[in-house]
Amino acid sequence: MNTDAVLRINNLHVHYQTPQGAVKAVDEVNLFVGRGERFGFVGESGCGKTTTALAILQMIQYPGKIVAGEILLEGKNLVELNAEEMRRTRWREVSLIPQGAMSSLNPVMRIKDQIADAILTHEGRSARTGLNQRIEDLLVTVGLQRPVAQMFPHELSGGMKQRVCVAMAIALKPKLIIADEPTSALDVVVQRIVTQTLIEVQERIGASLILIGHDMGLQAQIVHRLAIMYGGHLVEMATVKKIFQAPQHPYTQVLIGSVPSPKTKKSPFALPGLPPALLNPPPGCVFHPRCAKALEMCRTQVPPLHEIQAAHFVACHLYR
Ligand SMILES: Nc1ncnc2c1ncn2[C@@H]1O[C@H](COP(=O)(O)OP(=O)(O)O)[C@@H](O)[C@H]1O
Ligand SMILES: [Mg+2]
Repeated sequence: MNTDAVLRINNLHVHYQTPQGAVKAVDEVNLFVGRGERFGFVGESGCGKTTTALAILQMIQYPGKIVAGEILLEGKNLVELNAEEMRRTRWREVSLIPQGAMSSLNPVMRIKDQIADAILTHEGRSARTGLNQRIEDLLVTVGLQRPVAQMFPHELSGGMKQRVCVAMAIALKPKLIIADEPTSALDVVVQRIVTQTLIEVQERIGASLILIGHDMGLQAQIVHRLAIMYGGHLVEMATVKKIFQAPQHPYTQVLIGSVPSPKTKKSPFALPGLPPALLNPPPGCVFHPRCAKALEMCRTQVPPLHEIQAAHFVACHLYR
């Protein structure tokens, strides 16, 4: 295991309590993110990506609850912090570009006031000195012009709004930035440009980045390592190269098979069946009902995440 991890998640379980029972949105997740690393977090809609991100920031809302696990940010267990300690940690040490971030900008506030709010909330009133200059510098860092500071969200394009969200996430130079599908609402060209900006600023401040998305092809060009999530479980984690050249988990193999490739001209393969209902997940391996290689034990025993080769982790009975 990488010892110089900025983030280490051990045995995380997050449930949403509903009248029908507990939705097991995150079930036994283990992962680590290295210093300066770009880490991709992939899986189909509803598999628990956003819940994991919100858990890291201690922003899970009722009826959600972290029921077990540790989230260590440079050794500090965020799960145990009180509200005030977490407020000081958020944005300063770990920041989030939330899913649908650009629609979360306040429509009746100028951009500079929104960024100022974020900075003042976390640094206190002493940050007022030189604040306007600092905000304009931040905007320039993310590729916007200084006059954008005076504008309202409706005067900006989608790509520009997303850059404002990137600016807010880096304002306090956190060690870890989590970007939850930061470009999924943008068209393909703008997607690339905004992602490029995100990478540039991440490298400039020396932060680690968790990039959440469902597009394996896009992720492969950006991140160093990938974690694949299915039905609340982390099923595989390795370098992009290993995931693409030698995917081990049957679900990852399907995902890789469904990335369109101009070289092979193969048509994407669609996985039969439905994603699991996390209210009543299947017993054993959560993927077994859709798995072509399922063994008898897969129906009853949950496969733990296991290091099958150096730095290649898989949760599958085929490799035990
Ligand atoms: N407030 C909630 N109440 C009940 N279930 C929820 C709530 N929020 C999310 N979930 C469920 O948790 C699971 C994971 O959701 P989410 O983390 O948003 O997935 P992703 O980001 O991968 O699409 C889904 O099955 C979703 O329906
Ligand atoms: Mg999500």
